[in-house]
Amino acid sequence: MPVYALADRLDELGRVSDEPDRLTRTFLSAAMRRANALVGGWMAAAGLEVCEDAFGNLIGRWPSSRPGARTLLLGSHLDTVRDAGRFDGALGVLLAIAALEELRARGRELPFHVEVLGFSEEEGVRFASAYLGSKGFCGLLTEEDLALRDAEGVSVEEALAAFARGRASAGSPLRLPETSPDLSRLLGYLEVHIEQGPVLETEGLALGVVSAIAGQTRVKLTWTGKAGHAGTTPMALRRDALAGAAELVLAAETLARENPPLVATVGTLVVEPGAANVIPGEVTHSLDVRHPEDGARLTALDGLERAAEEIARRRHLSLAWRPTQDDPAVPCSRDLAAVLAESVREIQGRSVELASGAGHDAVIASRLAPVAMLFVRCRDGLSHHPDEHVEPEDLGLALAATVDFLERLAERERA
Ligand code: HGY
Ligand code: MN
Ligand code: MN
Repeated sequence: MPVYALADRLDELGRVSDEPDRLTRTFLSAAMRRANALVGGWMAAAGLEVCEDAFGNLIGRWPSSRPGARTLLLGSHLDTVRDAGRFDGALGVLLAIAALEELRARGRELPFHVEVLGFSEEEGVRFASAYLGSKGFCGLLTEEDLALRDAEGVSVEEALAAFARGRASAGSPLRLPETSPDLSRLLGYLEVHIEQGPVLETEGLALGVVSAIAGQTRVKLTWTGKAGHAGTTPMALRRDALAGAAELVLAAETLARENPPLVATVGTLVVEPGAANVIPGEVTHSLDVRHPEDGARLTALDGLERAAEEIARRRHLSLAWRPTQDDPAVPCSRDLAAVLAESVREIQGRSVELASGAGHDAVIASRLAPVAMLFVRCRDGLSHHPDEHVEPEDLGLALAATVDFLERLAERERA
């Protein structure tokens, strides 16, 4: 596939949104259905067997004729954050389709089955917990996951049931899989993804091989004080939930600034009752803490939980501290990384290894199979932003490296 066709497809997919004037595509939404139908059509055009599983994951299969063949998983996620860029996730799915198209154009017969996966929920926007799609595909969703509720109070379980009911009425062309993949015989999982950071740009390279994915914990905090009149309540008598939360937000930022490469972020915050002349009675906010080493991440979390409890005590607030996600750091497969590095060297002359501060579906896939990730340079390292951008030349290099990697894997598997 010419690279500009791949770039055009990314542009087209980037316009499939739940919101009119920016890219937001969340778990099991109408836009997700439209995205799956669009990308499913491209998978079918590439000769893949297309289906959509009960978790909304889009699946494109290229079965091998080799008896006893193992399965290689390729892919990334099709959901996005709010006001997203068009490359995060989508690049890995569309590039995987393009790579298989290229191999089929070369007349290749692979000695392993390939499943291209467009996971339905990686960002954790709707339920504040990431990877629900890949967990569903890998059979790793827990009762706790299914009980998570969105801002409207709908649980994951209820949302999945509604999605299933809506499948027929939505007129979706996609059918449920007739057979489940044999996840016990996986050759591995490859995810191509934008770097979402500055390293490749600094190195002057288009591609890099991921060494490991940072551990990530997300917590939902709820502070409860007492709402009251903003004009008549003396400061000394207040139990201001937002002032307490604000102290913790700054404590998290300070702790991370003082202990790099620790990162801590509060991305969502809701104030109740939410009126300019009412003292905030209740505040709920997120807290996202990451570090390449699990010990350092857990120490930071412990410190922040104690700081939160101290703030609540001093301000006569009650505090609920509820972890919604906790994923340890994941090392990538040294074996697959070595093969991927050979492909990267073949395509761009040299290869570098870099860690991923961002989470990826590879975190979940790593529980079932060895994982490899190919990073692609993105302008200014910017992501989770509408200005996210990858140069077409770099798309071409990533596609060439992915095809080369698949050819090398096939050679090894035939040996
Ligand atoms: O938040 C992340 O690291 C990823 O973009 N889901
Ligand atoms: Mn992503
Ligand atoms: Mn993302």
